[in-house]
Amino acid sequence: MSSFQPVRGTRDLINQEAQLLSYVTAKARETAKLYGFKETFTPVIESFELLSAKSGEEIRQRMFIFDDLGGRKIALRPEFTASIARLATTALRNEPKPLRVFSTGSVYRYDEPQKGRYREFYQANYELMGSAKPEADAEVILLTNSMMKNVGLQGYAIKLGNVGVLKGIMSQDGVDEKTQNAVLQRMDKKEYEAALALVENEKCRTTLRSLIELKADTVFETVEKMKAQVAGYEKASTAVENLSAILNLVAESGCPIEAVDPAFARGLEYYTGMIFEVYVPELDIALGGGGRYDRLIEVFGGEPTPAVGVAHGLDRIMIAMQTQQTTLKAQIQKRVAVVPVKEEIKGEALKIAQQLREAGVSVEFEIMGRKMAKALEDADKRGADYAVIVGERELKEGKVTLKDLKKREQCEVSLDELSSKIKQTPLG
Ligand code: HAM
Repeated sequence: MSSFQPVRGTRDLINQEAQLLSYVTAKARETAKLYGFKETFTPVIESFELLSAKSGEEIRQRMFIFDDLGGRKIALRPEFTASIARLATTALRNEPKPLRVFSTGSVYRYDEPQKGRYREFYQANYELMGSAKPEADAEVILLTNSMMKNVGLQGYAIKLGNVGVLKGIMSQDGVDEKTQNAVLQRMDKKEYEAALALVENEKCRTTLRSLIELKADTVFETVEKMKAQVAGYEKASTAVENLSAILNLVAESGCPIEAVDPAFARGLEYYTGMIFEVYVPELDIALGGGGRYDRLIEVFGGEPTPAVGVAHGLDRIMIAMQTQQTTLKAQIQKRVAVVPVKEEIKGEALKIAQQLREAGVSVEFEIMGRKMAKALEDADKRGADYAVIVGERELKEGKVTLKDLKKREQCEVSLDELSSKIKQTPLG
């Protein structure tokens, strides 16, 4: 056996896991279509400068960076948002707004590997650009709700906040942007005392503490209490009003919000308004997260464009599905092995295989030149549902033998009826 293993923090996905990732990706794509998002492919490598602008210290320190042979500083994408924002300032600049862009693929972060945390992982990413209205924020949250429902997850909960509240308070009390980002990084990790210790202004500290310690019975009451706590802070008050509008819209549309967290912050620096994450009770890591970032496109040299988006962690959704033993609602496709009885008729057998494939039947052709008994035994072992045995005598009559490998029954079927017979027969 080879001693080569995948690089630390990366993994091979084979068999059921590969099937599950493909299933979840298909569900993400379906969700994109349901909400009118167009699929876009961008490179896995981008300039370090692009990826590091506004992503924040945390992500910057965890990027895979290298110099290419031309001496350019390149990084593997740690997320999609920067790439899509780049597109919005270039190829998609003149597209009518709002823009709805969907992407899926692998992303890379030098995180400490553990369950649900990898250095290569898969995201489904949705960006909605061109609207500052709470309806746009609501759409991204509702889309997340739909995705969780579509993959069959139970009991998932959405946590909502607005980083504009904390930023508004700190700006008004004169905390510089660098310190603000450092405070928010710590708040994201729930290191509240360490976060407050960075703030010199006492009034600011008191207000922030009141939000951290705020308790209420319902999400609506939380928002009302937040309004009271930030009275006198102009931008923070506007941010709470905005949070309230988004919460009401989402709740009215029938999607429950489990929690509103007044001290909620996320690792990425570009957020300017609403932020949210989705969880399932079985895992303490987020299955997805997103928020509003109204300045990023401008930073990349584009027109000021309000934007909001979300990324779903497909690996974590897979873990949640496995934990909850979610059954895949995939269409069960019958699998067929086509086996020629003799060497001389393999061309004709291959033609039958092609006809079946054209009719949408999944076929594994006998390519090992094995004797019939061996070939059938192997097809059975691989879990094929049927074997199509192509014999000389039957072929002359325009027929083949169709063997049901599960029921261990067989009959002769005319070539004209073969594909419909396979498709119509219920799995035994
Ligand atoms: P994020 O919260 O950094 O947001 O990542 C989104 C999701 O990716 C997380 O909720 C999690 O499910 C998954 N994820 C993150 N790190 C790992 C890891 N090391 N291993 C496995 N899964 C992981 C973003 O990436 C933003 N770009 C989202 C966004 C889009 N905001 C606006 N637009």
